[in-house]
Amino acid sequence: MEILQSAAALQAQTEIWRQNKLRIGLVPTMGALHEGHLQLVRAAAQDNDVVVVSVFVNPTQFNNAEDFRLYPRVPDADAALLGPAGCTALFMPSVEQMYPQPTVLRFDFGPLEQVMEGEHRPGHFHGVATVVSKLFHLSRPHRAYFGQKDLQQVAVIRQLIADLSFDLELVAYPTIREADGLAMSSRNRRLSPEARAAAPRLYEALALGASLVEEQQHTPKPCSRLWSSS
Ligand code: PAF
Repeated sequence: MEILQSAAALQAQTEIWRQNKLRIGLVPTMGALHEGHLQLVRAAAQDNDVVVVSVFVNPTQFNNAEDFRLYPRVPDADAALLGPAGCTALFMPSVEQMYPQPTVLRFDFGPLEQVMEGEHRPGHFHGVATVVSKLFHLSRPHRAYFGQKDLQQVAVIRQLIADLSFDLELVAYPTIREADGLAMSSRNRRLSPEARAAAPRLYEALALGASLVEEQQHTPKPCSRLWSSS
């Protein structure tokens, strides 16, 4: 596995792969990799000839400086996991490589980003779309892999691909969970023992809600009007 640190090195490599008609899979990440990421990498290795994994904690998608500072960074452990999972090139750029100058272009996904996570993290999806567009341009993938855990992010990236005519296939991969149901996430490392113990209750509540809705849909509705006397 090669480790590339500059945008120019990644562009040069992907140019050679494209000339040799190799299919390129891209797995964008912010590192602190877990089994959910590794499944994306394995799927990309199965579907493509070569796989680029980016590890970059993207400052423009954080609207809280402290959150950016505390985001887990374990580059050596990440690199050790990626080779065996099928990564061909690990792209680990600096902030200066990704943002040689401040960007002026603004992404606005309208109603798509005014609900759920977007409502509470203004500018977050602008930052995601900016860095993902840059990664698409630098690695020119045939397929790009994202986890369904970040459902709204997948919807925003689908819109980005459609609006800017990126010539690639988006692959959304199912959420991978811990044995107790908690969705795997790099941020789980930051949970206190109490919060970690409580976190699976959220999934239990959602799963219960989903099963009740499903049950309701399959219960025959009473046909009171049929028995009306008039
Ligand atoms: O899902 C993530 O880890 C990030 O939002 C992404 C897609 C790598 C962009 O920085």
